[in-house]
Amino acid sequence: MQRLTLLSILMLVAGLAGLVGCGEEPSSPPSTGMPMMPQMAMMTPPGGMPVVFTIGMSQCNLGEPWRVQMNADVKAAAEEHDDITVVFKDAQNDSLTQKSHVEEFVNQGVDLIIISPKEAAPLTPPIAAAYNGGIPVIVLDRAVLGEDYTSFIGADNVKIGRAAGEWVKKALGGKGKVVELKGLMTSIPGHDRHNGFRQGLEGSEIEVIFEADMKWLEPDAKQEMESALARFDEIDLVYAHNDPGAHGAYLAAKSADRDKDILFVGIDALPHEGVMYVKQGILAATFQYPTGGKEAIEMARKILAGENVEKKMVLGSRAFTADNVDTGGEAIE
Ligand code: FRU
Repeated sequence: MQRLTLLSILMLVAGLAGLVGCGEEPSSPPSTGMPMMPQMAMMTPPGGMPVVFTIGMSQCNLGEPWRVQMNADVKAAAEEHDDITVVFKDAQNDSLTQKSHVEEFVNQGVDLIIISPKEAAPLTPPIAAAYNGGIPVIVLDRAVLGEDYTSFIGADNVKIGRAAGEWVKKALGGKGKVVELKGLMTSIPGHDRHNGFRQGLEGSEIEVIFEADMKWLEPDAKQEMESALARFDEIDLVYAHNDPGAHGAYLAAKSADRDKDILFVGIDALPHEGVMYVKQGILAATFQYPTGGKEAIEMARKILAGENVEKKMVLGSRAFTADNVDTGGEAIE
């Protein structure tokens, strides 16, 4: 099957428009604020050759199971469609590398960029430059600053943090000593999961006796937990901003033979990670953070077809505990 790039189809369309004298812009431009993209209807042009749009997918790292799952979700959704192809880049947890990946996508002239950024501040300018230069950008999972992108897709991290806090308040009967292992605080989910958690604890006598930034990483969480264990004889619960963090804390407590005295709570709830830990009794609870990979591809196709898309798509979340894990968890309100 012969494939056409966007550039060649634009030339073809421009040529046809010139021939038949209908070069005006369509009456209802897409609401993305972007220059006009060819309509999906044009994707099988008169010659009968299908158009293939190229999507550049920039992943901040592939060292964590959740991100491997996100790429797998993007790939599986993209494979359902013949009219898109996805080029993946892995920034290996380096914001400067990720910035240059975005610039490379722009230089290559991809038709759309999906990015799951490592950090907000350093990735905001390259994303804004791509978007303002006419390439639609979908920001996935970790937000950036400002509004210079086409759409953001992610779950509500404040709400998830609050649900975790409320669950912890109940589980500890309103008082106890808690360790909070935070996600990277230069990323927005870290802040939101922290603020939401503190809101959820309000009105209780729970004390957060130790908090540290474990940067979303299991080995860092383990190390921070070793410090917490060394300093405090009483720790009732660990709230980690993701499941690898909660698992790292569990491993540290297990080595110190204190795992039975402490409850561990995480976020992500991948079936083969957090949900499995709940089934094994390692985590007391995990709160789902969906990858949004499928939704990103569905939205990308709409944008490429010139359809309106919302500026922000908020995904739902579920809580998994020992009581509900076998019945698929419970939706967070
Ligand atoms: C993976 C990850 C997930 C977390 C998400 C937040 O890098 O740390 O565990 O839910 O990023 O953006």
